[in-house]
Amino acid sequence: MPVTPSPSSLDRTHIPLPPNTEIYLNLHGMHTNPSSYPNPTVFDPKRWVITSPSSQESLRPAPLFFAPWASGPRVCPGKKFAQVEFAAVLGSVLKKVWVKPCKKGGGGGEEARKDVWRCLRRSEPRGATLKMMDEVWLKVERR
Ligand code: HEM
Repeated sequence: MPVTPSPSSLDRTHIPLPPNTEIYLNLHGMHTNPSSYPNPTVFDPKRWVITSPSSQESLRPAPLFFAPWASGPRVCPGKKFAQVEFAAVLGSVLKKVWVKPCKKGGGGGEEARKDVWRCLRRSEPRGATLKMMDEVWLKVERR
């Protein structure tokens, strides 16, 4: 039975469960619920950034309703590995190459950049993950 209490009612919802009931958290639902994030399907990295009056940027602490690796005793044991892996792979690749938007068959510039932004804006969660709805062409150049 899907249960979606609002965050304000979380601490006072009592749901009797029969023995041997399996419970699955709907992480995708939680991450795309407008009560967790306004405009949850919009690609908005600034959501995670605090900008100080002197324009210094720092990462906002993850809110309670952010749990892509689950949480508690059954938290994903690969969480740290996955986080470090993202940074290590991107860092080692981007140290050697530029990745630039381009048009299919060549050519780049402002039009190609607009294609990428259009694709980002139109991408949305489908099933469990974020899906690109358009084609995007990228050119990888040695630095
Ligand atoms: C972005 C990458 C990853 C995401 C988003 C992710 C997410 C998750 C989630 C949501 C669970 C379910 C926890 C539960 O049972 O409630 C899980 C479990 C698990 N993950 Fe990951 N994971 C990632 C990468 C990895 C990596 C790199 C490893 C291993 C090197 C790993 C190993 C495991 C294992 C062994 C479990 C089962 C834990 C258990 O049953 O208690 N995961 N992961």
